[in-house]
Amino acid sequence: MTEHLITVDGARLWQSLMDLAEVGAYDDERTGLRGVNRLALTDADAAGRRLVISWMERAGLTVRVDRMGNIYGRREGTDPGARPALTGSHIDSVATAGAFDGCLGVLGGIEVVRTLNERGITTRRPLEVAVFTEEEGVRFGTDMLGSAVAAGRLSLEYAHALTDRHGVTLGGELARTGFDGPAGERLDPPHAYVECHIEQGPVLAQAGVEIGVVTGVQGISWQEITIHGRAAHAGTTPTELRADAGLAAARVVVHLRAMVDSGAYGELRATVGHLAVHPDLTNIVPARAELTVDLRNPDDAQMARAEEDLAAFLCTLEDDRPGLSVSTRRMARTAHVPFDDGVRKVIAEAAGDHGLAHLSLLSGAGHDAQEIAALCPTAMIFVRGEYDGISHNPREYSTPEACAHGVDVLATTLLRLAGQD
Ligand code: GLV
Ligand code: MN
Ligand code: MN
Repeated sequence: MTEHLITVDGARLWQSLMDLAEVGAYDDERTGLRGVNRLALTDADAAGRRLVISWMERAGLTVRVDRMGNIYGRREGTDPGARPALTGSHIDSVATAGAFDGCLGVLGGIEVVRTLNERGITTRRPLEVAVFTEEEGVRFGTDMLGSAVAAGRLSLEYAHALTDRHGVTLGGELARTGFDGPAGERLDPPHAYVECHIEQGPVLAQAGVEIGVVTGVQGISWQEITIHGRAAHAGTTPTELRADAGLAAARVVVHLRAMVDSGAYGELRATVGHLAVHPDLTNIVPARAELTVDLRNPDDAQMARAEEDLAAFLCTLEDDRPGLSVSTRRMARTAHVPFDDGVRKVIAEAAGDHGLAHLSLLSGAGHDAQEIAALCPTAMIFVRGEYDGISHNPREYSTPEACAHGVDVLATTLLRLAGQD
């Protein structure tokens, strides 16, 4: 039987999201809400992975884990030689997360499989559901890491050698948690990849639209800056004799904001999300400051200019104050990635066939899809969020209906990409 529209079990999808959110749950003091802390390859992430694998197996998927810890669940098609239609996302989280970022794409993929099983629908191509390792990049410093290794942009050796803030290696954590799988880390090019994800922004809600058809992902530049100054007594050291690393760090923050406000770098966004001074004591001029800089820009040339401006500013910091020195470490860098017109069209038509209003938009956040796009035609489905689409926060929320609608579109899109007999 040929089905044209697939409607998933929204209540079952919601229950899966809520059950996974219990793994790594914590009570967030600031919001009074229950949040999720499932940093990559922690015990909580490992428990979440085991739960997801059990759901995959119960849905009849054949599970393989690769040397990067990426998990793939496969449902065979009638043409075993055909390249699979791939979906998925990540279940690792930032330390202050909600229930939806990444999880919707993974659990949505599993829900699609459950629905096809119940309806007895077979596809010509195999279907695979992926869970990529360390998408967030907050533990080991490079985002979209598992998918970047799967796509061949970053090497397994690079990834395994990355360390967290305590010096623990990713390779060691893969072994400790039992997710150093036997499968080769390079993914054979799928037929197509489609990822369903919450928007993490306000655009869809403001437009009163259910579904986003994602046109691509903007460029991302992450670096860590370390400023070395000179520790000194806060009461006795004359201002002109100080080499204050904390002051220099503050100047970087202010300079970045001035760069954004100048409008000279297009739609640049700049964030210093981590800033620490040492020795971190009331009456000592900071000897050292560490900060991270997150730049986003949809225009690669403007991004390169912004990076050059920042580098030049760091040189002036050194020149302005004897005793200050600055070093930088590249953490992550991706260019603007446009998505495939053909897959976008399939998504837009699926949304229309489900009677769901949709619009096209560029993703402000990074996603595994931007890496898999190097291997095969790729695009994403965005689901709208409440509260201005707040994300990376326990207030992150998309309604059960919005989640179900996004996964309905995912199901129909995958079915059309995988083909029926
Ligand atoms: C991923 O969540 C990002 O930082 O965009
Ligand atoms: Mn995500
Ligand atoms: Mn995220």
